[in-house]
Amino acid sequence: MHPQLSRYIEEIQGRRAWGSLLDAGTGVQSIQWIADLETNRWSAISASPSHAKKVRKAISHRQRPEDKIIVGNWLSPKLLENETYDTVIADYLLGAVEGFSPYFQSFLFKRLRPLTGKVLYVKGLEPYVPIPRPDSEAGQLIWEIGRHRDACVSLGGSLPYREYPAQWAAHHLQISGYSVREIKHFDIRHKAKFINAQIDLCAPVLKNLSDRVLAAALKLRGEALRERALDFIKANGALDFGQNYVIMAEPH
Ligand SMILES: C[S@@+](CC[C@H](N)C(=O)[O-])C[C@H]1O[C@@H](n2cnc3c(N)ncnc32)[C@H](O)[C@@H]1O
Repeated sequence: MHPQLSRYIEEIQGRRAWGSLLDAGTGVQSIQWIADLETNRWSAISASPSHAKKVRKAISHRQRPEDKIIVGNWLSPKLLENETYDTVIADYLLGAVEGFSPYFQSFLFKRLRPLTGKVLYVKGLEPYVPIPRPDSEAGQLIWEIGRHRDACVSLGGSLPYREYPAQWAAHHLQISGYSVREIKHFDIRHKAKFINAQIDLCAPVLKNLSDRVLAAALKLRGEALRERALDFIKANGALDFGQNYVIMAEPH
């Protein structure tokens, strides 16, 4: 999805061994990257059984007997109790916590601290929905699509993801027993794949919405946003808006 972030992590890691590795919020993208690294073993955690199933399917041919995919929630003190990993990766985990354990974000890094042997890498997304309407056309489109998607997710009875700024994450790492060594931001160039994925996320919700008038109106709104965004990308190559970040922190 964002190969330059993974490359940057590989650069910082340099010649140090990855050793045992924990993918603390797993997904198809992170596990495929991790399977390419020279690790002794890895464990991949997801709070969602369906997410874990996708990960299992994507990686089964490369999974060694010592590699584990576990469905569990960091809310549970029993999850990986007494285990330590040389390298911990929190790949878009912080933003997803809202969907699985709301109000737990402030405790996440503290929860991962005893599991972190040598280094923790956090990949995240600067919030782009709970901000004032951006000035640029690209920004406005991304902002409107994000708000439309989150409205659909809420109407469907789930909690939308909630992203946190890098500064928030760095502060919480510092008060959770880590020293922050690196913070780097990466500009995002949104392409058609991203736009389609965001609008398509609404489809199952709209299908089940009991208010059919509202469902039809939301469907129209989503398709109008899709058309505007895809036209913009055709004309300009991408929708340039927002930033991803990587933070590297070491336990102290
Ligand atoms: C956005 S996905 C991560 C993306 C993934 N790294 C990838 O490459 O596709 C977030 C992951 O974090 C997991 N997650 C979120 N909150 C969690 C929690 N409280 N405990 C355990 N896993 C959690 C989700 O179940 C999901 O597997």
